[in-house]
Amino acid sequence: MARVFGSFVLLALVFSVAMATDHSPLQDFCVADVNGQVLVNGLTCKNSSLVQASDFHFSGLHKRASIFNTALGFGVTPVFVAQLPGLNTLGISLARIDYAPFGINPPHTHPRASEILTVLKGSLEVGFVTSNPENRHISKVLNKGDVFVFPKNLVHYQRNLGKKRATVIVALSSQNPGLIPIANVVFGSKPDIATDVLAKAFQTSNDVINNIQFKF
Ligand SMILES: *[C@@H]1O[C@H](CO)[C@@H](O)[C@H](O)[C@H]1NC(C)=O
Repeated sequence: MARVFGSFVLLALVFSVAMATDHSPLQDFCVADVNGQVLVNGLTCKNSSLVQASDFHFSGLHKRASIFNTALGFGVTPVFVAQLPGLNTLGISLARIDYAPFGINPPHTHPRASEILTVLKGSLEVGFVTSNPENRHISKVLNKGDVFVFPKNLVHYQRNLGKKRATVIVALSSQNPGLIPIANVVFGSKPDIATDVLAKAFQTSNDVINNIQFKF
């Protein structure tokens, strides 16, 4: 009995380790070959003899996001595998997020990553919602130096509470966390999800849905 229990514990440990992040590296590094033509899970490795320090380096997180969503009041500077090829197979990445006064990063999920956030400047309301059937909204106001974690896959958001800009750094447990903005995928898909499907789902009229779909 003890031995059976022991194997279960071992199995549980093996699986929790194996599934904690992107797949584990099988060599020191596998710098992404940006010109690779082979389709694999992740990106193929650049010849390790040709790898340079620059493959492990990114510069620019001291600057505000260059691509800013003015309607929502936020901008993201990603440091994912596309920006930093040395991240390939390592299961981690980083981003800087800037918020205009009262700006929001709207509800979204990352299909491949948990996210840990720290506030460098300003104060933010952050939150996520647990899965069905509880749908519990867990939220908190954060100030400079505070840290908050958004568990993998759960819908989460941030809002700048102040009249000044806010800045955070987030770390993610994937080289390529992926992004599912709820409003865009539901109301802005191409082609549209049928208006009456969404009207029933959201228990409202076709007119209301049409109006929202038009904006996306
Ligand atoms: C990797 O690069 C080195 C140095 O240029 C070269 O000698 C070697 O053949 C390359 N390996 C592969 C698999 O292309």
